[in-house]
Amino acid sequence: MFEVNKVRQDFPLLKKAGESSKPLIYLDNAATTLKPQSVIDAVTRYYTDYSVNIHRGDYDLSYQVSDYYEKTRKTVASFIQADVNEVVFTAGASASLNLVAYGYGEKYIQENDVILSTESEHASSILPWFRVASQKKASIEYVPLTEDGQITIENFKHAMHAKVKVVVIAHISNVLGYVVPIKELTEIAHSFGAIVIVDGAQSVPHIQTRVKDWDIDFLAFSAHKMYGPTGVGVLYGKYQLLDSIEPYYLGGGSNARFDRCGNITLKNPPYKFEAGTPAIEAVLGLKAAIEYIESIGFDAIEKVEHELRTYLINHLKEFKHIKLYNPDATSGIVTLNAIGIPSQDAAIYLNSKGIMVRAGNHCAKILLDVLKTPDTIRISLSFYNTKEECDAIIEALREITLEKCIDLIF
Ligand code: ALA
Repeated sequence: MFEVNKVRQDFPLLKKAGESSKPLIYLDNAATTLKPQSVIDAVTRYYTDYSVNIHRGDYDLSYQVSDYYEKTRKTVASFIQADVNEVVFTAGASASLNLVAYGYGEKYIQENDVILSTESEHASSILPWFRVASQKKASIEYVPLTEDGQITIENFKHAMHAKVKVVVIAHISNVLGYVVPIKELTEIAHSFGAIVIVDGAQSVPHIQTRVKDWDIDFLAFSAHKMYGPTGVGVLYGKYQLLDSIEPYYLGGGSNARFDRCGNITLKNPPYKFEAGTPAIEAVLGLKAAIEYIESIGFDAIEKVEHELRTYLINHLKEFKHIKLYNPDATSGIVTLNAIGIPSQDAAIYLNSKGIMVRAGNHCAKILLDVLKTPDTIRISLSFYNTKEECDAIIEALREITLEKCIDLIF
């Protein structure tokens, strides 16, 4: 049975906030989430109890930590419903997306090929493909968005054609929070012979991911947006695809042998993509984060986040001075502007009330041309947020004025 007040005790920052008179209302969960004590303990335990290297030492501590590290891979695989050798540890979703663009782009993209994406993508998804397109004389095309920034199956179908070799798309947009019908999209893309690369940074922490059922070719996500440590992420890839592409960096641990003539034999996936000593403590922290999410369960996570979002939207839509950009989205992302107030000034005003949100373009710079605004305020929810916290931002936005923001700044 989900009890928010109990859950909040698991997070040291929220616990501390509960004991203080100073408000701490954290509504920037799409940027990064807070960390529960179990994750902090897993990281600390590595440094205090077994801080040796993995896969390199012929001694008990190294065997032990290598075993913990590989158990995390199993935990991740089961969490996203993949096979264990399809899980590559990276430095984060951006590193995963760059790895695929380099590896797949280098091997398979040819002149006149098309990479299909959308105007709502995060820089980490689309910029690596700009470079591939420029190097290979391929081109980028965009699925037309609806007026409110959604990707529909119909629009996607119209945008697909035989020259499209790669589709790069976020499962949940980090600005608008729409959940893309990924299973339908992969089916359409595959019928044209294209692969689908999914940016799961905003979806994996919030909904149950099923890579096999959805027939995703590659999936990227970060631990730090799912209650885990910074500095580690995952690239899921279908094994035969991982096997067929090259890593973009080389080094110890990823090769089986090399000789003075420069002949290199790489290990099999996933190890050929994991050169150098990884962020071992962060990987172990990721395991704790997944176990924490599983202890809450996606049924509760989706229900609570949806209820909070509905509550916020129902109140905010009554305010004539608030423009909502995604009232129909279903995830916990609410994007808005207070009309006539630059988003950063509004964020500074909210900060004066102890409320943390993100303001700006959210690294999705093309989308703001579509939305016809230079920037927005983004509220992003987690299951540990409360109705009282929603009330606090509703009240702050009810009374916000440009004058009040200016008074704070000057
Ligand atoms: N990609 C993160 C965000 O959307 C940082 O805020």
